[in-house]
Amino acid sequence: MTERRLLKIPQHVAIIMDGNGRWARQNSLSRLQGHKRGSEVAREIVTASARIGVSYLTLYAFSSENWRRDPHEVSGLMSLMKHYLESEAQELHKEGVRLKVIGERELLPNTILDLVEKVEELTKANKKLTLQMAISYGSRAEILHVVKQIAQKVRDRRLDPDKISEQDFEQHLYTAGIPDPDLLIRTSGEQRISNYLLWQVAYTELVFVDKFWPDFTPEDFMEALLTFQSRERRFGTAA
Ligand code: IPE
Ligand code: IPE
Ligand code: MG
Repeated sequence: MTERRLLKIPQHVAIIMDGNGRWARQNSLSRLQGHKRGSEVAREIVTASARIGVSYLTLYAFSSENWRRDPHEVSGLMSLMKHYLESEAQELHKEGVRLKVIGERELLPNTILDLVEKVEELTKANKKLTLQMAISYGSRAEILHVVKQIAQKVRDRRLDPDKISEQDFEQHLYTAGIPDPDLLIRTSGEQRISNYLLWQVAYTELVFVDKFWPDFTPEDFMEALLTFQSRERRFGTAA
């Protein structure tokens, strides 16, 4: 089936890009080489998303819990992100991609944070695709952040606790203003959420792919979109 015949393109796709380490081991490479190949695949999927007409793509690049990995792997991942931002910013801009980073920014090294802010500023008016990179992201940390903001508002008497709504909550999420994901894809065969977008995936369709992320292709991406199309979403209504 060609891309054009695809109906019902999900507006927002979120991906847990998992399996770089196992792919590397399988190919007798270092974990960092796995991450490098993984970042190239991410780049291809960004372009494919823009071409297909997905409006929002959220990629899990580094979790709050990933800080606990071996320092060598963590610093290698940070260098890779720096390299990615530096080498791809202009090209992403040309493709009409708006970059946004979600996560605990205050934990990122200054060199990365400065670059992130620069690229966000450069691309902020782009409309084709919003790329949310989840870096130093953990959903529980995000929810705690929201709770603190709301508690502050209540303390300042700007919000009545009896009237706190889902909208009040959502406007403090890192993803404020972005619709919830329609489709979540996780590669590597693991079938878990790993602290990703817990609030936002309440009614998201889940697709688990039995391939390591560096082996994931634009064709596999199309396959996941077709699976999405075959699902019937109900949002709590009767069948
Ligand atoms: C995903 O691949 C990338 C990050 C978490 C940074 P992994 O590094 O988790 O690879 P596996 O799961 O160990 O194979
Ligand atoms: C989730 O993968 C985070 C990213 C893909 C960045 P992990 O490999 O960290 O998750 P677990 O530990 O298998 O649950
Ligand atoms: Mg993993």
